[in-house]
Amino acid sequence: MIEIDDLHKRYGDKTALTGVSFAVKPGEMFGFVGANGAGKTTTMRILMGVLAADSGQVRWDGRPLTFEDRRKFGYMPEERGLYQKMKVSEQVQYFGRLNGMSAAQAAKATADLLERLSLTERAGDEVGALSLGNQQRVQLAVALVHGPEVLVLDEPFSGLDPIAVDALAEVLLERRSAGVPVLFSSHQLDLVERLCDSVGIISAGRMVASDTVEELRAREGRRLLKVVVRDAAPGWTAGLGGNITEKGDEVLFADVNGSDQEILRAATKAGTVEHFGWERPTLTEIFREAVA
Ligand SMILES: Nc1ncnc2c1ncn2[C@@H]1O[C@H](COP(=O)(O)OP(=O)(O)O)[C@@H](O)[C@H]1O
Ligand SMILES: [Mg+2]
Repeated sequence: MIEIDDLHKRYGDKTALTGVSFAVKPGEMFGFVGANGAGKTTTMRILMGVLAADSGQVRWDGRPLTFEDRRKFGYMPEERGLYQKMKVSEQVQYFGRLNGMSAAQAAKATADLLERLSLTERAGDEVGALSLGNQQRVQLAVALVHGPEVLVLDEPFSGLDPIAVDALAEVLLERRSAGVPVLFSSHQLDLVERLCDSVGIISAGRMVASDTVEELRAREGRRLLKVVVRDAAPGWTAGLGGNITEKGDEVLFADVNGSDQEILRAATKAGTVEHFGWERPTLTEIFREAVA
């Protein structure tokens, strides 16, 4: 398990992180979300040892991370670092060798990954000749080539078309299933909701939520009661508790505390009840509320 514990970081007199903590378990896909400048990249750089924290600690299986541990990690930095003049296949193999693979191992892992990421036909091209989306795939292959035990990816999906997003998602889900903790940052909340087991929301250097997606969406105070009554007598919701939003026949009750049966009785009296049920907020709605 990767544990980020109470990180603090300032750049001069600018505070970037104040007490950032969260954990990513083996076989867990953790989405790290937050607005621009919230502190995602800073946190991931500290995790990877590229940047030192002012205080706080990063632990792996209970002990502080070492340089040797980090060699077993796969990292995709925000500033993409590829050699533009090097050929795709050579580049990926080169990073595999840097991480201790034999030439044969690196060649095999590279061929497999290029195939998975639909880059086989570009294997002999210089990186600089590829589209940005394809360069991004190469960057990903570089992060994955040595079969990392932990994945830390800074905005890996940004700039990818939907096909490439799916290809990358499949590779990451596979690594997760093999027990690898996967941490990635993203602005694409629908994607995070689709892929991640857990989510951490950071706002202005503080964690404002960190939990399983299931738990965040199911939390009592966040649920909405949706009621649809056909041919309802006007004003049937008058006097009912909660925070009410009406749209045509549909009525949404927020902050309902245990009085749902009273609402059901009023709805039945008012007309034909077509729908009566609890709705869970989307991750986007939770995010808006959390960073508001
Ligand atoms: N090298 C730096 N020097 C000064 N301020 C920085 C530096 N890097 C990041 N910051 C500031 O720290 C805050 C967090 O930035 P960052 O971690 O890059 O956020 P995110 O990745 O969530 O967009 C921002 O306010 C940013 O301007
Ligand atoms: Mg960033």
